[in-house]
Amino acid sequence: MITPSAETAIVSPAARLRGQIVLPGDKSVSHRALMFATLAAGTSRISAAGDGADVRSTAGICRALGATVTRVVADVSGGGAAATVDYVVDSPGVNGLGQPSSDLDCGNSGTSLRLFAGILAGLPFRAILDGDDSLRRRPVARIIEPLRAMGATVLARSDDSLPPLTVIGRQPLRAVDRWTPVPSAQVKSAILLAALRADGRTTVREMIATRDHTERMLRARGIGVMTERLGPAEADGHDGAVAVSLEGGRTMRAIDEHVPGDVSAAAFWLVAAAIHPDADLVLRNVGVNPTRRAVIDLLRAMGADIEETAVDGRVEGASIAGPGEAVGEPLADLRVRSSALHAIDLGPADVAAAIDEIPILCLAAARAAGTTTIRGAGELRHKESDRIAGTADGLAALGVDIAVDGDDLRIRGGRPLAGAIVDSLDDHRLAMTFAIAGLTAAGRTTVLRPASASISYPGFFDDLGRVGS
Ligand code: S3P
Repeated sequence: MITPSAETAIVSPAARLRGQIVLPGDKSVSHRALMFATLAAGTSRISAAGDGADVRSTAGICRALGATVTRVVADVSGGGAAATVDYVVDSPGVNGLGQPSSDLDCGNSGTSLRLFAGILAGLPFRAILDGDDSLRRRPVARIIEPLRAMGATVLARSDDSLPPLTVIGRQPLRAVDRWTPVPSAQVKSAILLAALRADGRTTVREMIATRDHTERMLRARGIGVMTERLGPAEADGHDGAVAVSLEGGRTMRAIDEHVPGDVSAAAFWLVAAAIHPDADLVLRNVGVNPTRRAVIDLLRAMGADIEETAVDGRVEGASIAGPGEAVGEPLADLRVRSSALHAIDLGPADVAAAIDEIPILCLAAARAAGTTTIRGAGELRHKESDRIAGTADGLAALGVDIAVDGDDLRIRGGRPLAGAIVDSLDDHRLAMTFAIAGLTAAGRTTVLRPASASISYPGFFDDLGRVGS
């Protein structure tokens, strides 16, 4: 049914989808758990972290800054091929970190680049953050501006717009009160991490609230973080704005933590089962943080048959969180079955809430009755690839009626999918979207450059082969 290689993955339609999937550890939480363990003095144990290349890039940078980071391969034999690992991090704490001897390699990971920029802004040495060709095309002015306002020296290529990024940190930084230029958890987090080393109270204001892992995870480590909802009068008439504040100069505690299953990885299976005529999949211990779960709620609004139950314990043989073990992050088991989907309209707040799931939601829309519109998706152009163009080109090649108008997308659903050659552009979320499409497309779907899936989900193609028959 599936023949993956580094260059191509050939996916044929599956007659049925059945089984249970243990997802990789949440990528956003895994990055932060490693970074915060490096900032806290002592030993932190991180269980069931994601083992994708992005998280490994972060682990490498933590080591380069002076933490001892041990990667322990977890036993996932009972749960299939979910790629989770445990980490033990021993750190001297933020004041014991030192200047790295070479450039810090973020690989493909925007989260590593932006969040480490915030951390380095408050450390009294010079360091360079760099990455692969895709990362070198991603915008950094959005973090340079606030970090400069806080007193750090930050420089970048091409008129301070693109990586590599040079950060010369300073201690203490100046506390600020600022609006973020775009709804971005990476920008918000960079400012909050710099704020830990600032003299006084920093406030970050967002027009549209983004994922709040940084806030939750800092609280779990003893840092007081306040989140306040802002009314339209305080936010230029906008509803849904928030202000997040913290006081600088507080010490972070080392803790042990279980990482929840990645809801952004779950999204591929939610859509696979919803659009497939004979599907019944169970996804175990999925992180359902209110700022991350939009994809579940949007699919339900489209008519997807998704049952959500409280987690009922550990999955035998798999190192994943049991009830109450993922610090500050709610968990659920999800069961998803074949569904009759209908179109919906998504606006900019939906796009921000499901920023990584828009490509796979476009596939759901392609199999839904009616016309789905997605407005204000411009941020997708600044991800690992231009995901508006990449999604539209790939789905169009598979026979989908999809049109792009500026930053908006329109998908007329209902046409059957036809196998074709589709290019992932080396973007993990596009590779997985097109492979899922192949499960229901007539004939063979050839996904070019599928190995990028391992950026966030190394076991993806194993799981695909296991649940499809
Ligand atoms: C992330 C935030 C999002 C998301 C990325 C991970 C994070 O980026 O696309 O995959 O961990 O903070 P932006 O918030 O910058 O859009």
